[in-house]
Amino acid sequence: MSREPAEIVVDGRRVAVRPGQSVAGALLAAGIRSWRTTRTGKQRGLFCGIGVCFDCLVTVNGRRSVRACVAEARPGDVVSTGSEPDD
Ligand code: FES
Repeated sequence: MSREPAEIVVDGRRVAVRPGQSVAGALLAAGIRSWRTTRTGKQRGLFCGIGVCFDCLVTVNGRRSVRACVAEARPGDVVSTGSEPDD
């Protein structure tokens, strides 16, 4: 087993992750409090934290509209944040 800290890449930035941690948990632990902007320019990040509100959407490994609060962060995941059209 590797002793290297596990990491994901968020918008080109390396972010440490713990086993079982959600993507949102990793973002918050890295000091990232909001990571998406609505069409009207409002910032969004973690709100409900239980997969209900869809405020925390990110793209993970090219898969769009992933709820960061319920998605497990797996080492090597590539996460993109930012505005995404609703489709
Ligand atoms: S914070 Fe509500 S769905 Fe993720």
